[in-house]
Order: sequence, then structure tokens, then C-alpha cells
Amino acid sequence: MRNWIVTETPFRPTQLNHLETVFTIGNGYLGVRGAFEEGYPGEQPLVLIHGLFNQPEGAEVSELAGVPAWTGLELAFDGARFRLDQGELLGYERTLDLRSGLLRRAVLWRIPGQTVLRLVFERFASLARPHILALRVQATALDGDMMIEAAGGLGDADRSHWTDIEVGRGAPQQAFLQARAAQSGYRLGMAAHFDAGPDIRPEAGSRPTFKFMARRGQTVTLTKFIAIHTSRDAARPLDAARAALGTAVDLGYDALYRESAEAWEATWHASDVEIEGDDFAQLAIRFALYHLLIAAPRDDERVSIGAKTLSGRGYKGHVFWDTELFALAPLTFTQPALARNLLMYRYHLLPGARTKAVNNGFEGAMYPWESTDTGEETTPKWGAPLPPDGRRERIWTGDREIHISADIAYAMRQYWQVSGDDDFMARYGAEVILDTAVFWGSRVEYNAAQDRYEISHVIGPDEYHEDVNNSVFTNVMARRHLQTALEILAWLERHAPAQAGALRDRLALTPARLEHWRDVIAKMYIPRDGDLLVEFDGFFDLEPVDVAAYWPRTRSLQHIYGVPATNRTQIIKQADVVMLMALLGDAFGPPEMQRANWDVYAPRCDHGSSLSAAIHGLVAARLGMSDQAYALWRQAAGVDLEDNKGNAADGAHAAAAGGLWQAIVLGFAGLRQAGDGISLTPNLPPHWRRLRFRVMHRGRLRDVTITPDGVTIA
Ligand code: BGC
Repeated sequence: MRNWIVTETPFRPTQLNHLETVFTIGNGYLGVRGAFEEGYPGEQPLVLIHGLFNQPEGAEVSELAGVPAWTGLELAFDGARFRLDQGELLGYERTLDLRSGLLRRAVLWRIPGQTVLRLVFERFASLARPHILALRVQATALDGDMMIEAAGGLGDADRSHWTDIEVGRGAPQQAFLQARAAQSGYRLGMAAHFDAGPDIRPEAGSRPTFKFMARRGQTVTLTKFIAIHTSRDAARPLDAARAALGTAVDLGYDALYRESAEAWEATWHASDVEIEGDDFAQLAIRFALYHLLIAAPRDDERVSIGAKTLSGRGYKGHVFWDTELFALAPLTFTQPALARNLLMYRYHLLPGARTKAVNNGFEGAMYPWESTDTGEETTPKWGAPLPPDGRRERIWTGDREIHISADIAYAMRQYWQVSGDDDFMARYGAEVILDTAVFWGSRVEYNAAQDRYEISHVIGPDEYHEDVNNSVFTNVMARRHLQTALEILAWLERHAPAQAGALRDRLALTPARLEHWRDVIAKMYIPRDGDLLVEFDGFFDLEPVDVAAYWPRTRSLQHIYGVPATNRTQIIKQADVVMLMALLGDAFGPPEMQRANWDVYAPRCDHGSSLSAAIHGLVAARLGMSDQAYALWRQAAGVDLEDNKGNAADGAHAAAAGGLWQAIVLGFAGLRQAGDGISLTPNLPPHWRRLRFRVMHRGRLRDVTITPDGVTIA
């Protein structure tokens, strides 16, 4: 591992699927897992495009429909099929250059019993032209002449999703494919160009194929370009793909690569974080940012980042609170245009949130726990069959994990404060915040005996407790949401009175309703015991467990004990009260109060979710416990790079990636917004000699450098 480059050497076949996730390339439009061009037993090639959801027959919910894996190449040398489990593998190195988005693999291979050859594969998804992908293979016969056979088509369409599949060949070096998603109706158009250089003529057949001799020492280059469009971005996807392909072929591989690398450079200029004194941390933060940047939609505000990005099938491509409270902050602070796209996704899907509210007997807008392209609730009700008897667990999050609406409001307010984007707030954000406030107003329950408002039967961030009353996270966030709503309405009245009037009418924001909100804010029940917040009613009556004793463990405690048993204990799945501390910062309470809550909640946490460790790291850093903070940060950094939760094969963890940035900038650097500016209270890990990052605050780029000697902001 060097500072920009993730390396695999030698070949690690036991980590095949994990590394496919690691070596994903993408550009905010699509993601391409790092499966090999030539194939390998057990691999999971996958290409996902934002928003391309479809519900296969018999499935409970919709999922991202994979499109044909365009990377496939069949290669044979002197009649022997090339694959790493055949012939003799003499050397192997795969690298992902995070700086330019180039994935490269060099292989030294002996044709069974014959010639030694060197192969260098490269591929990238253009960041400058989101519909274009390119790959190239350079093959050199080192100690003899060899016969090369190469075929490169478009790959097969998955028939559980695609219908009306039509494939064909245009020009001799080209192939095309079009198809329609059976349930959602989205149409797909893909066009490929494959060549072996100007002098080599393709063979006849169903896909571009070449057969020719290469002399000893000669390097031959095979190049493949792919263009993809869907009916989400073009009226006639195949025509659009063909046109884009033509441009790409005219430009050629090198010019396309240069363009894309320049786009990457501009992106890193805003988002890079430099760490001196810790090579692992340096690479890990860039790796995390890379995965966020390839997942963040650039030209489309009707899609969002799924929990596992576009790099795997985990969670079916669905969008959770992971986006707003974990992945978004690095974009809000460094790529405001991308952050805005993600927030616009929620605005556009307000109708789905209104439907969910009505279906549940409430007013206003209630966002789904899991979201796709429709905005409707898409959390499955039942989990996958479990051994030994194939029983399925009921999944309650779609019914009860309602804090998501407050999380979205929090993210919109944060974006507004950091960017100063009044236009967003006035035209879009306000409607989301106000209509979700209407939801909270109808959701809270008045307890007359105690003269207070309560919220029962919910799930907080700690999903090990699936039916709780007065989740302190939920109640505090709902109260804060109502405060934000009043604040935004007052602001709108001053800045855009016509807009305010229109919203008052449309959302029925009557004086009585606003009065009700004020009453809820004043009387919301916040369970606490002195300085200590109580995670939910009765939490401390549950069975205490010495979580630290379960060490070392690679399985979560819920996995070890099962769902019902864990429910009866004080084991916490992930940052919950600690999440509230991360979000509220100083507003949570004075430092002693923060410390008191940390001391109770951090030791009870299982970190059963990848969302947990980085947030704990952030809070620990703010509390001045830099060694502990670093250990937690280090754990979060291993989620995808080292697969320390054992599930990186399902896709990269967007939330853990965003959490890593948050822990550095909001934790170790201690960035806060202060008035119209920013302030910093650093608490760096002791071995970090220098930390540098940039943030865009109210349209001004701030270049922050922190060393043990002090802080400079340029
Ligand atoms: C976590 C949730 C998260 C989801 C998707 C769950 O295991 O508990 O907080 O939203 O995964 O990443």
C-alpha cells in the first residue's frame, strides 16, 4: 500500500469477492466490481447503475438490476484459454490508483508447457463522460511467437430482471444490446467497440473476435470501449449509447483516460485529506473518499447512495439513513453540488413519504426506512431463511425505525448552514422539513397523566431492541426537527414571504398546528437520570452484559446469542446515545455530561454494525481520548480494506467511509461552525505529524493544516 495506491500482490484467490468490492471502479453513474476480464471460478462480476431498480418475479421488494458485465474477454494463447487457475501463474500485481481511478493488473503467465507472456490489463470508468467505460489489455510474448485469439462482447443480461433482450453487431468491431427491465420497464442500451489495432481484421461471428500471430517481444494491444444509457437518462438509450460510443472511439483510449484523470484531479483538489505520520491512515481515508466519490451521483438528483454503494448486491441497492447522517457530511463540506443532488433525491420522493404517512395513519411526510426509486417503503418484512429450519425473522425497521425523517431534516439544515445555499432551502428543503414536521406533530402521543409527549413502539439506531418506548435518540431528534421547522418557517417568512405563504397553505401550517409544535417542543419526554440520558424506557432494567469479555470476536453478539436473547440485554448494536452526541456536539450538554454518557454507553456497544466504530471514534476524539479514538477509527478503516466484519464482499460500506472522514474532520480536527466561520479544536492521534484538508464553507474554500505546533487556516 502506497499513499494513493491499493495493491494486491501476490494473487489472493481466497479473498476474491472481497477484493472485487475493493477494486470497484465507478463515476457516480455506475459501478463495476473488480471481477477479472477472463473470469475466475466463484467470482461475482456485477455492474450497477444508479436508479435502475426492478422487482424480480416472486421477490418481496425491488433491487438494483445488474446490467451485463461489459468487462468480459475471452483470451487464448497458442490455443490455451487464459485464466489464473490454469497454466502457470509466475507473477501478479493488481493496483487501484485512487488518484486517477485507474485499475491495473499485471500478470506473468506461462501458457501450459509453453511460452511465457506478460499481460497488463487496465480499465476505468470515465469521470468526465459518465456513460463511457474503457479497458485495454497489452500482451507481450517474452520467449517465443504466439497465436492470440480474443473475443469481447457485451456479456449476458440477467433474465431474472431483463426481458425483450436484443443483441447484435453493427460495424465489424462493434456489438450492441438492448433490453427492458421486466417489472419497472426501464430500458437499457449498451454498445461496445473492441479492436486489436488498425491492422487486424475481425473474424465473422456473433461478437467481435480476433485471431492473429504475435512475434516474440512484440506487444499487442486490445482495446474495448463501452457506452451505456438507460431510459432514465435518454429517450432512446441504444441510439444514445451508439452516439457516445462513436465519440469515445474517435477520441481514443489515451485521450479519454487523460480527460477522466483531469476530472479526478479537480475532485481531489477539493476533497483530499493528507495525513503525515501514518501511511495506513493516509491510504485508508483516500480509499474511503474514493468509494464515496464514485458512488455519489453527479448529474442525477433522483438517485442516492445505497448502503453498499454501487459495488455489491448488499441491501439490494437500497438507501438508508446511512446517506444523510454518515456519507453526506464529507460531500456537504467538500463537494456541495454532490451533497445537494443527494438531498434533492429526498425532495423528489416526498410523494412516497406522504403515502407512507397516510398508510400508517399519520399526517405529513414519513420517509421510508429503505428507499429506492419510488420513494415508497421498500424494507422487506421478512429476512432470508435461517438455518437449521429455514425460519425467517420478521424485519421491523420499515415499520418502526422512524427517526429517518428527522435525520433527513438534520442533514438538510447542516447542508444549508455549511453551504449557505438559501435557494435550496427556500425552494426544496423547507418543504421537506416542514412536511416531515407535520408528521412528527401527528405521531407524538400526549400522556395526559404526566403532561408530556411520548413516542412509543419504535426502533432507535440500536436495532438490537426492536420495540421500545421513548427512544431518546428519536425523541431528541424529533424535538429538534420541530425546532428546525419553526426556525426555517420564520426564516422563509423573512426571505421569501410568498414561498412561506404557499407552503403554509399547501401543508396546512395553521396557527393551531404551529402552536401544537411549540407545545411538543416544550413537553417532549426525554428519558434521563440526572446527566445520563436513558436510551429508552426501561433500558437499565435489562440484563447487563460484560461486552468487553467477548473478545476476540468476529461475529456480533446478536449473531452469537440470537435476536430474542440479545433483545433482553443491555447490549447495544451501534452508536445510539453516542450517535446523538456526535450529531449535537456541544448542544448535547457540557463536557462532563458528555463524558458521563460515554462512560455508560461506549462499553455496552457491540459495534455489530459497521456504522458504529467511526462515530465512537469521532466522539472519543472530541472528548480528548485520542488513543481510544484512534483505535476505533482504525477499526472502521478496516471494514472494507481488511474485511474485518467479514461482509465486504456484499459491497463497500458507504456509512463507514463517511464516518471515517467525519471522525477526522469533526473529531480529530474538532471542526465546528462558529457564527459565520469555522473553528477548530484539534486532538490528533499522537503519531500524526500533520493533517491537512479542505472544506468549502459558505462558498469559501478553507485550507486547514494542523500540526502539533498549531493550526493554520488559509
Ligand atoms: C444498521 C443500520 C443501517 C443498515 C444499512 C444495519 O445493520 O443497523 O443502521 O442503516 O445496516 O447499512
